[in-house]
Parts: sequence; structure tokens; C-alpha cells
Amino acid sequence: MLGRYVLTTKHPLRIAIAGLGTVGSATLDMLEKNRDLICQRAGRNLQVVAVAARDKTKHLQKIKNGIQWFDNACDLAPLPTVDVVVVLIGGDDGIALKTTETALRNGKSVVTANKALMATHGVRLSEIAEETGAQLMFEAAVAGEIPVIKTLREASAGDRITSVQGILNGTCNYILTRIGEDGLTFEEALKEAQNKGFAEAEPSLDVDGHDTAHKLALLAALAFGIPPSFNDVSVEGIRNVSSLDIHFANELGYKIKLLGTARLTDRGLEKYVGPCLVPKHSVLANTNDVLNAVSIQIDTLDPITLTGRGAGGKPTASAVVADLMDLARGSSVLPFGIPAAMLKNVSPALCEEKLSSWYIRMRVFDKPGALTSVSTIFSQKSISIESVIQRGQPGLESVPVIIKTHEVSESAMRWALAKISKLETIQETPCAFRVEEPAHEDCPDSPNRMCQRAPEGMGKPFNLG
Ligand code: HSE
Repeated sequence: MLGRYVLTTKHPLRIAIAGLGTVGSATLDMLEKNRDLICQRAGRNLQVVAVAARDKTKHLQKIKNGIQWFDNACDLAPLPTVDVVVVLIGGDDGIALKTTETALRNGKSVVTANKALMATHGVRLSEIAEETGAQLMFEAAVAGEIPVIKTLREASAGDRITSVQGILNGTCNYILTRIGEDGLTFEEALKEAQNKGFAEAEPSLDVDGHDTAHKLALLAALAFGIPPSFNDVSVEGIRNVSSLDIHFANELGYKIKLLGTARLTDRGLEKYVGPCLVPKHSVLANTNDVLNAVSIQIDTLDPITLTGRGAGGKPTASAVVADLMDLARGSSVLPFGIPAAMLKNVSPALCEEKLSSWYIRMRVFDKPGALTSVSTIFSQKSISIESVIQRGQPGLESVPVIIKTHEVSESAMRWALAKISKLETIQETPCAFRVEEPAHEDCPDSPNRMCQRAPEGMGKPFNLG
């Protein structure tokens, strides 16, 4: 019996792909290899009619008959033979922006994996899409194959979200895993991530935390109805995380992950990216290699945590193709779930006032009174020490000292670190990372059984005793 869909009566969705790098090539492959299945599930054929990339000679084998070639992506955006332009070019301006804008202004829908572009120009691009009736989809821009945009925009559309937190950069997670578990150096691990096609063309975007900040800006926009913005995100990357930190964090019962967090608190909206210690048995701690994880906290429910491959050609192509299939089915959603004009800022929470427990690593000359000077500085700001690890060895001039504090404000911690750095007994500037207490489902494994679930009044931690 024939279903409701009669495929042949619907004209195909005509696709132009701008950019044939790792993700563009994987998208072309997937559309080709899974053509029948995609057509069946979308109820319509998806047909690539044009592609644009810089070097035609590199892509000759992929270009089938009937696909038009363009050297300049901007030229395919206004084509009357195209319904949707897939923008898989990096950068937050230049060709990526021009192609996206031209396509939207011409009423063509756009599917993109470009998080920097969406985090920088998301509001304006949404306004153009709304004006022309085009769709602007960006599932592939955050967390690769994990359907987190759809979850926030559609599945959780009726919920009040209080926080979104996750491992959003596959390259950093890969590097931290390879240093911690396989003893690679930072440079070796980064090289591997580049060879596997996870890293950005400019790797400082990954390792210095900016890529995570772009993605966090998009998630926060969807979760809280605010305009995407990353300039107000406090950002620290993973360059200061050493194998020593991974080792000592493990001794304390934690793993180190680069987290992006957006959380509504009674002080306002916190947005920060940085290396954090997370309890060893938590979902985040066990999200390794190139995997990403995103935990969404809803005011009245337990958190949703989604994990999956966050970077690389195939996982990202899978998200691109899912967006294309939604377009083929005729689904229509606003890019950020509400009209661009209704996106309104929430007052930011000052990071300096944020209370956290901290992990600190310092190198101290092995002399009498060295630790006393450190603890004196801590006591001046009422910073209470929870644990200390010092591993001295006879003959060593200096030793690493690891301190975990109880909760303290960031401003007090920064003040103390600045003072400690100036002590004569300190060999190098100390490193400090936040300790993130677990989400609800991990509470039993937490060393101090603190939970960030907020049943009434958002963002208030309470102690399970
Ligand atoms: N460079 C990014 C990452 C690619 O490593 O997560 C996916 O956005």
C-alpha cells in the first residue's frame, strides 16, 4: 500500500554546498551513500545541484554530472535553481557571511555548521531570514552529531531552563584525554586532533576556549531567549593544564574537562568557559576523546544529558543532513526559537562574585615556612583549605603543592593568587581551576554531596547532607 508520501510528485530539494573541506566532503558523501534512506525518511529527494570550493582539481572525483561547479561560493547563493545553500566555510565574516546573507536575502534557506558566524551575526541573519521567509538552521554548529539545538529549541520548548553546561570542543577533549590516559604531550595530541580533522584551521580557536565560547553563546541564546553573544563570556583555554594536574586531580577524585557553562543564578546569568575539575564518576568525566556532552537543567525536572561525537566530518555531516531533511519535510522554525526582535539580554552575573571550590597547583621551594606563607595569604581572605598534596623528594629544590579549597569567591581567589605569585618561596605562577560539583544524577558519587539542582529559585545549590 502506498503511504501518504508519493515521492515522485514532490520536486527534489535542490541543494548547493559552499565549502568542500572535511564537513562539506562528508556531507556530499552521506547524501550520495544514504540517498534512498534519506529520500524515504524525508519524503522527497535531496539533490545536490551545485558546489563551490577553492580548488576544483582536489574535488574532481566527487563532482558528478549535473552538479554545477563554482570557484566562488557567493556566486551560488542567488541561483534560481537552488532551494537551500549549505554554508560549510569557516570564519565569522568574509565569504561565509556574504554567502549566507546573499542566500537568505534571495529567500534561500541556509544550513550551516559555522558557529563563529552564528554567534557573531546570528541576530541579524535571523532577522533577514524572518523577512524573506527563509529558514536558517545550525544544528551542526554545536556538538557535532548531538541534536542539542533541536532539543533546546523544540523538545524542551515548554520548559524553563536554568543551566546548560557541557564539553563542547572535541579537540580539547581529545587532547586532555590523550595527555591523561596515553601520556602524549600537548603538541602531540593537538597534531593528532588536526590529522583526524577535529581541529579548527586556526587551532587557538579550540585550545584557547573561543570555539567553546561561540557554541555556548548559541546554546545560551536558545536556552534563555537572549541574543547570542560571546564577548561577555569569561574564557580560559586548556594551555595551562599539565599532565601533573590531570594526575593530581585524579588523586583527589576528579578529572579535568574544558567546560562551557551558562547558568541562571539569583545574581544574574553566568557564562564561562574554562578547565574544571569534575567528579570522576560523573557523565562529564567519562566523556572522553572527541566526544562532547551537554547537560541541560530544567527547573522542575532532572537534567537531560546528551553525549556524542562533537567534531569530525561524519558526525557534523550527520547534523547537516538532518537539518536538510527537516527542510525537505517543510518544517519551519525560527533560528533561535523566538523572533529575533524578542531576544532580550538578561543581566549578567559578575564572575568575581561566583562561589566555587578551587584546585590550585603551585611549585614551592622546599624550605621551612613555605606553606605557612601561602596559608597566611589564604586566611587573609577567609579561604579555607579542604586538602593539600605535597610530594617532596630529597634533593629536589622545589616541589609541586596541590591545594583544594572550600567554596570561595573568584575575586578572593584571584587576589590570593596574585599575592602568592609574589612570594619568594614560589617558583612559578600558580595555576587555578574551578571544581564543578556534579549535576543531580551524579550526587551520590560526589565527594561532598553537593547538588546544583534548583527546585525553587534558580541556581541555588543545596546540600543533600
Ligand atoms: N574544532 C571543533 C571541535 C570542531 O574540536 O570541537 C567542531 O565544532
